[in-house]
Amino acid sequence: MNSLDNNLDVIILAAGQGTRMKSAKIKILHAAAGRPIIDYVLDLAGAISDRPPVMVIGHQRESVQKAVGDRARFAVQDEQKGTGHAVLQAAPLVDGARHVLILSGDVPLTRPETLRRLLDEHERSQNALTLLTMVLDDPAMYGRIVRDAEGAVTRIVEAKDASDDEKQIREVNAGIYVFDGEHLFDNLRNLSTDNAQGEYYLTDLLGVLRGGGHRVGAVIAGDPIEALGVNSRADLASVEGEIQRRVVIQLMAGGVTFRNPATVVIDSTVSIGNDTVVYPFVTIEGTTSIGSRCVIEPGVHLTNVKVGDDVYLKTGTVAEDAIIEDEAAVGPYAHLRPGTKLGRHVKVGNFVETKKAVFGEGAKASHLSYIGDAEVGADVNIGAGTITCNYDGVNKNKTVIEDGAFIGSDTQLVAPVRIGQGAYVGAGSTITKDVPAEALALSRTPQRIIEGWATRKKTK
Ligand code: UD1
Ligand code: CA
Repeated sequence: MNSLDNNLDVIILAAGQGTRMKSAKIKILHAAAGRPIIDYVLDLAGAISDRPPVMVIGHQRESVQKAVGDRARFAVQDEQKGTGHAVLQAAPLVDGARHVLILSGDVPLTRPETLRRLLDEHERSQNALTLLTMVLDDPAMYGRIVRDAEGAVTRIVEAKDASDDEKQIREVNAGIYVFDGEHLFDNLRNLSTDNAQGEYYLTDLLGVLRGGGHRVGAVIAGDPIEALGVNSRADLASVEGEIQRRVVIQLMAGGVTFRNPATVVIDSTVSIGNDTVVYPFVTIEGTTSIGSRCVIEPGVHLTNVKVGDDVYLKTGTVAEDAIIEDEAAVGPYAHLRPGTKLGRHVKVGNFVETKKAVFGEGAKASHLSYIGDAEVGADVNIGAGTITCNYDGVNKNKTVIEDGAFIGSDTQLVAPVRIGQGAYVGAGSTITKDVPAEALALSRTPQRIIEGWATRKKTK
């Protein structure tokens, strides 16, 4: 823990709409790798300070408040008059804190280590302000860091206010700052809007503090991606790519093999056990957890699926809101819809669709079936082409197949219907009545043989 923690408040600036996203939704609620980008910033604040951060909100404040809940305290900025004005709105909630760390709601990739380095430098140099900077090949629209001959930071000049010479500066303001609380708010009240955007710039405090004889310092971020802000969809894609890269690196460190990690789409909310192998072009989303020693073949798409150990998910398997227990095998090209639960050793094979279906241990449906609203007992064998006719046009009805039953190929089970324990259903049957345990049910017209029929037809 940093020694500053006890007296550190965090402010997150998040009142802007983010017009360059061209979205009805405020940019901090856009998802990257399965979570809204503001979540990553809240995690960061939580890693640095035990006190809930103060979020400055404005645009779409109801949805932001709803999404964030009690993870932050809120200050409202009704009109967006600039970053300096935004910080001032947080004053009633943080005035009195010895140090104030300012983050942007749209900068989600900063690492806690980098913030600790910033805080350490702030304390070591006894600065009134220490800011995070980065060096970019293309400094674009970022504020430029102006240093004097001794290398001391003297000013931040916004791109829109910069001279041609200043525009050449490649060291820029990351928008992350530690202030001494004592000097922050008093000086903010004295800022002017005499600039290209007619806004109160937080960055103007640097000059004000220096003018007042206070020390100002900067820490350069080693990796500029840490300060990447989400301003456009292109930025969002870069941020999401980086989060996924970090997720995969962490999973690999925990013993997961990725055969081609760059092609895998994975949310930051996913967990995978060691010795599981993930093939290319796999998508793993939501609260999905995968156990150890599984094989996840190409084209598998999992959303909120709980997968046990030693599970084999073959090519093209799609599953959502489902549970797959240890040593089950699924696919290729199976579709497990919500409410599916496959017990241990279950096999669901090629082109099988399931929905609200619970399969007991060792049950098999190997080919081309639809099993919906069904309870399938242990060691049941469902032949190719079996269909549970679960919908009568008004209601969904249930099919129960008890332990050890054998359903011949091309059977229709017209629900509600129950197949008793150990019973057999002959291939090609349409079953409309319950079948008792250990019975054989057949419902097909007996086969007829007409000898010589084909020969007679040809000679006609
Ligand atoms: C700001 C910095 C710039 C820096 C860049 C880094 C200023 C004047 N400039 O520019 O030096 O290089 O960040 O990303 O500070 N916000 C509010 N209320 C407002 C205005 C902004 O809450 O009235 C919030 C925004 O929602 C955003 C953050 O503050 O989360 C930064 O604002 P933005 O307008 O994106 O500032 P930049 O122009 O990027
Ligand atoms: Ca920005």
